[in-house]
Amino acid sequence: MSVKQYMHPRNKYKRPPDYKQLAVLYPEFREIAIMDLTGRVRIDFKERKSLHVLTETLLKHDFDLNVNIPADKLNPAIPLRLNYILWMEDLMTHSKLEMEKVTGIDIGTGAVCIYALLLAKIYKCQVIGTEVDKGSVEHAQKCIKKNKLQDLIEMNSNRIFKDVVQDNRVYDFSMCNPPFFENEDDSFKKVEKVLPPRNAPTGNDSELKTEGGEVCFVTKMIEESVKVGDRIKIYSTMIGKKADLAVLRRLLRSKNIKNMTWTEFCQGHTTRWGLAWSFLPQNVVNLTTAPVIRKHRKSIVGLLKDYKTSITFPVNDKFSCIDDIISFLKVTAKELNIELQDIPIPENSFDSWVCRITARKRSWEHMRRKRRSAQQFALKRAKGESGECIEANTCAEETSIKTGNSMKSSDEESSDKELSEKNDPLLVCKFWVEVESRNDSQDIITQPNEIFRIWMVFENGYDGLDALHSLRQYLINKLEVREKILDNPSKT
Ligand SMILES: C[S@@+](CC[C@H](N)C(=O)[O-])C[C@H]1O[C@@H](n2cnc3c(N)ncnc32)[C@H](O)[C@@H]1O
Repeated sequence: MSVKQYMHPRNKYKRPPDYKQLAVLYPEFREIAIMDLTGRVRIDFKERKSLHVLTETLLKHDFDLNVNIPADKLNPAIPLRLNYILWMEDLMTHSKLEMEKVTGIDIGTGAVCIYALLLAKIYKCQVIGTEVDKGSVEHAQKCIKKNKLQDLIEMNSNRIFKDVVQDNRVYDFSMCNPPFFENEDDSFKKVEKVLPPRNAPTGNDSELKTEGGEVCFVTKMIEESVKVGDRIKIYSTMIGKKADLAVLRRLLRSKNIKNMTWTEFCQGHTTRWGLAWSFLPQNVVNLTTAPVIRKHRKSIVGLLKDYKTSITFPVNDKFSCIDDIISFLKVTAKELNIELQDIPIPENSFDSWVCRITARKRSWEHMRRKRRSAQQFALKRAKGESGECIEANTCAEETSIKTGNSMKSSDEESSDKELSEKNDPLLVCKFWVEVESRNDSQDIITQPNEIFRIWMVFENGYDGLDALHSLRQYLINKLEVREKILDNPSKT
């Protein structure tokens, strides 16, 4: 599937612009256009000036916007900006808000105030733009005036939300394209060295860099949003690095902000991410069910040759993110006296986690027996008092697939001990936790309908697959998930 397929379905640049037509219509574009021997018109993306002229021409041709981009400023590439704006439209529509009637805030407009211009022109909505760079504020004001959009766009030289949000007003959304790079961070240069850029770099340090990078910037935004609360209905930001998205999603959860969503913005060879959150109750604005675009990732665990089985269950309140499962598994391993060792995975696989567990005895069965004895004891006490036995749910946890020797005698237990004394592990397996889309037949996920899958990949151990299945059943019971999605364990 071509990268363009992952663009927002309503993004007009899913079809590339007709450069020949632009060259005929616009003399400035003709100047930078190059015609090859076959008569095809192209431009040199490595030339900063060509990128600026292309953006100016597209703004004129497709949106009737007259803009000039200062030579030293960031080129606001339109396909990416449009992907973000269309997602905001989706979030507004999903929240039953009409784009034509909404008021939004754009944090860090840049010199062209691109989001404000597009929002005002396309939907005629009200926008308040904030920007710290004085030169950019002045240039943005000129752009607004030139396009006669003063009634719709207001520029503000304050920072983030503080002093921008007025007490007596309610705003429908906020958006932001934060500076990505850290002041001291040379990752931008590193990327450039390894992979020469396909496009000329545009923008200056003050536009692209900030103390602590985008994580710091967005953290501040999240912290201020907690104070502003639901006076802004939907907060959003763009994120430049996938690993940062994981960090910021975790931060939102740590602040108990569960009404959130994220999406991917794909255009050309660049992917960016969008993150949105809200303090409104989910019966008013429910971001968790809002439309998104996420590329479907194929699980690599499926390719492993080792024997594997899995536990799958839908994302729910108790387990709302991968971190909840990680802490569940870590606590359970500790309770069961099982060794658990994290296995590093690539930084960008933020929707998966791997560890190796080593069990030296079937401690989970002892735990189960202990729990059952406690239940029976409680029941006996109740029976003693009332004289009759109500066996409700005593065996609720024993819904296990019978794994042969899941109920061990004390002789067997002591042989467990003997073997473990020899230090041979009873079971070594990998836990591979992944988030999957429920509909894995599609390349693009448009509804965030997700499930967790805990793969259990057998490695070795003297108790073989029997121990693996018995542990799996213990986890199913402890997670309190029924096997809603049937798994076919792989062949041995
Ligand atoms: C990456 S640029 C984005 C510009 C524009 N929104 C775009 O998408 O092309 C980030 C902008 O945020 C501005 N900025 C940095 N810190 C800010 C702050 N605390 N409040 C408002 N704007 C800020 C920078 O001056 C810069 O213009």
